Amino acid sequence: MDYGPAPESTKEAHAWLDQHGRRFGLFIDDAWSEAADTFGSFNPADGSELAQVTQASDDDVERAVQAARRAQPGWVALGGHGRARILYALARLLQRHARLFAVLETLDNGKTIRETRDADLPLAARHFYHHAGWAQLQSEEFADYRAVGVVGQIVPWNFPLLMLAWKIAPALAAGNTVVFKPAEYTSLTALLFAEICQQAGLPAGVVNIVTGDGRVGEAIVNHPGIDKIAFTGSTEVGRMIRKSTAGSGKKLSLELGGKSPFIVFEDADLDAAVEGLVDSIWFNQGQVCCAGSRLLVQESVYPRFIAKVKARMQNLRVGSPLDKSNDIGALVDPVQQQRIHGLVESARAEGCEIWQPDGAAPAEGAWYLPTLITGASTSAAVAHTEIFGPVLVASSFRTPGEAVQLANNTTYGLAACVWSESISLALDVAPQIKAGVVWINTANQFDAACGFGGYKESGFGREGGREGMVEYLVPLSEDARPAAPASTRMADKGQVTPQDAGPFALDRTAKLYIGGKQARPDGAYSRAIHGADGSYLADIGEGSRKDIRNAVEAAHKASGWARATAHNRAQVLYYLAENLAIRADEFAARIARQTGAKDADKEVQASIERLFYWAAWADKYDGQAHQPPMHGITVALNEPVGVIGIVCPNEQPLLGFVSLVAPALALGNRVVAVPSEMHPLSALDLYQVLDTSDLPGGALNIVTGSADELARTLATHFDVDAVWRHDGSLDGCAEVERLSAESLKRTWTGGAKGRDWFDARQTCGRAVLQHASQVKNVWIPYGA
Ligand code: NAI
Repeated sequence: MDYGPAPESTKEAHAWLDQHGRRFGLFIDDAWSEAADTFGSFNPADGSELAQVTQASDDDVERAVQAARRAQPGWVALGGHGRARILYALARLLQRHARLFAVLETLDNGKTIRETRDADLPLAARHFYHHAGWAQLQSEEFADYRAVGVVGQIVPWNFPLLMLAWKIAPALAAGNTVVFKPAEYTSLTALLFAEICQQAGLPAGVVNIVTGDGRVGEAIVNHPGIDKIAFTGSTEVGRMIRKSTAGSGKKLSLELGGKSPFIVFEDADLDAAVEGLVDSIWFNQGQVCCAGSRLLVQESVYPRFIAKVKARMQNLRVGSPLDKSNDIGALVDPVQQQRIHGLVESARAEGCEIWQPDGAAPAEGAWYLPTLITGASTSAAVAHTEIFGPVLVASSFRTPGEAVQLANNTTYGLAACVWSESISLALDVAPQIKAGVVWINTANQFDAACGFGGYKESGFGREGGREGMVEYLVPLSEDARPAAPASTRMADKGQVTPQDAGPFALDRTAKLYIGGKQARPDGAYSRAIHGADGSYLADIGEGSRKDIRNAVEAAHKASGWARATAHNRAQVLYYLAENLAIRADEFAARIARQTGAKDADKEVQASIERLFYWAAWADKYDGQAHQPPMHGITVALNEPVGVIGIVCPNEQPLLGFVSLVAPALALGNRVVAVPSEMHPLSALDLYQVLDTSDLPGGALNIVTGSADELARTLATHFDVDAVWRHDGSLDGCAEVERLSAESLKRTWTGGAKGRDWFDARQTCGRAVLQHASQVKNVWIPYGA
């Protein structure tokens, strides 16, 4: 059967563009600036120019930031209910103007009207409704948090309005004001949104929209008046933003690229899986960060499945995105077409088989036919590069274990699909895949209540749900932190002359603790440690790059700790506390010798209590079961981050160490800890306590030496998933953030400010557990 054309009317959208003379200025402080230094915004389906849009200058960004700054206190003062009413009004207005928004988006981006009408607009409105709710509940549900302040938000062109909603709704709900930059290809729906902000009665300066290219993005990122950057886009730009914000104290969330696996087991409903695949890789022409671009099919059904995929591809209708019966529209710009073409041709040159359905794309505009690539080796560029187009790369696997291995064989970790009629198999595989979202027997489902975001080089932070709100909030405990402690750094202490060893001297150089065993430092160097009175206490091992490497290797081998039950992890931490209590006097005496503390026994008692505290949390930091608008549930699991490098504070050397290491262990992370550079001996005394506490070898590794040197190695190590640094070194923290950009690891740095480790408000609570975990949302639809 053939379909006749069913075009959507563009009359209203063109009328709106005409009303503005097809020239747009910027929306700053509730006013429109004159259009200046403009560039064209084109319809990629036919190449026609839709409007001229302003390239914002540095002065414009300055004005926008100032307006946002001025507006922020008033926006907070409006209260949760006041903000909720305005967010609700925005949701209603989006719905009221849904058709205009959808058509304008289709004209500007090239995506089909079916998608803008049925996915982008309803999801954007839902985001504002959901976050109106969070604004209303904020004082109750986030009582221990405050808004971050002024947020800079930069989005890509693949979901222009939806990404705007994902960014602006939670930011406003939490009490922030924003400077928002759409992508240069697709500014128009953001400009239309500015108008509905006025209609909704949003106070001046709360939302400011500046248009332009990456230079405007850079100006926002580097502006000192911005407190947080929220970015969605390419991994390359995300990395640059991580580097340039290092040490600035700006909060950061990054939603980056992906190369997501779509796994089909032999017992899957193959026809349903084919439909899921269409949604996964051909939705929005494959210009989706979580597109299922790597098809992995179990060998026994591979030929049958590929035949079904090809048959389905023959029926995909490519053509005018405004035609309601078309499946595949235009790419955003000819630049993307050339990029995709280049990648596909390189695969052809490497001997891959390239398959496309019969028929041709329209002659005018930016198009690419749905494409299937088979026979690519795992090292081929198309197998690991984000193509960001309607191109699927297929391969087979034999066993579930191999499927997991192939799925995880990528630097990305955004999403995955698992297709199997066996719930037991699917739920066994889902937690093994290193990705922020796993869809079981479904694909590309999104909802405002369910967090979305990546593992590994797909970025960090979540959008949606409670965890998404936290990204726009600061724990009040951060404000309670004291100014920089008087003496934190070894380097500040100057040279101390070795003296008498005293009663607590170790008879030989203390070793490192790697893989559950004491190990000599690789370089065989040691350093002398002195007490508060300048007396010589001991020689400790000078850990090196090689020692960190060994420790990280040992930590990876201890993967069983991540799989241990939470009950089991809690037991080990309680046991550690018990064994520490037995030797409390000894530890207190050692602390007193090192720091000169008069009440060192209090630090030991606080450390014991802290171990109890984090043991208590181990089996209580549960995830959530969301009920998004589908027949099924979405399970949000709090998973460990992986291997965390922790550079511990100098003040309260035992309590500081325990306060950071214990929560990481409690949630199943494995740790490479660098104890206090000035007072490391309390951590070394723990070796025996660890040996008698059933902690598996490799779960906690301890490397002593120079904090700067060891932190540098941890930050640049590709197998370390996160680095925490809390030794009061501002430069050191900045360096960790900068160096971690290469592998986009998560960081938690204390900056120059100290922390009173006795004070539970500054050192305990969910805010710490959020650093020790990452949320994976597993979508499980039902249906017989
Ligand atoms: P991009 O990452 O350059 O652009 C995304 C946004 O960042 C745009 O608003 C852009 O103006 C802004 N930007 C660019 N340079 C910046 C800088 N130095 N500082 C701050 N902001 C900056 O992505 P682009 O060039 O549009 O697409 C290139 C490739 O990136 C795509 O082919 C695709 O592979 C990937 N991509 C991935 C996305 C995702 O959601 N994962 C979204 C868009 C692109």
